[in-house]
Amino acid sequence: MAARSAGVLTVSDRCSKGEANDTSGPNLVRLINSSKLGFNDVLTKCVPDEAELIEAALLDWADRAGLSLVLTTGGTGFSPRDVTPEATKKVIERDAPGLSIAMITKSLEVTPMAMLSRLTSGIRRSTLIINLPGSKKGAEECFNFALPSLSHALDLIS
Ligand code: MTE
Repeated sequence: MAARSAGVLTVSDRCSKGEANDTSGPNLVRLINSSKLGFNDVLTKCVPDEAELIEAALLDWADRAGLSLVLTTGGTGFSPRDVTPEATKKVIERDAPGLSIAMITKSLEVTPMAMLSRLTSGIRRSTLIINLPGSKKGAEECFNFALPSLSHALDLIS
């Protein structure tokens, strides 16, 4: 299997200021490493809920670092500061609605609050970018719902 690198971008005003601990990001790193996706490296970064900073991190990881998979956690909800999907839509070249639909549909079986995530997914060059909710629980659930398709998805875009 070819060497692949992934990134986990935590989007949170409070975590970026050190006012809260990032539990979701490290948990996603653990899930990636314990998956059979074959990642030998997982980069991490935390940014506040600022569209320009989210976009810059995604562009850096897609275009400069050439990561195969980028998971974001946080900023997908309804509050005025939640802009992760908008920043992601500016960066992706092709939408991947099936991933988003699957994650939300399956999440609705867990909680009606899944309706409140505006998460999006898409492809830029050879990078698959997937938004996940900010809570450790919500991000883990959504990652696990997407996981069965990810190995094939990554093969297709590489
Ligand atoms: N999806 C799953 N699977 N499990 C969850 O616990 N939480 C929801 C939703 N999606 C949740 C979920 C909640 S409470 C919110 S507010 C939205 O995701 C948006 O979360 P975010 O703003 O932290 O991204």
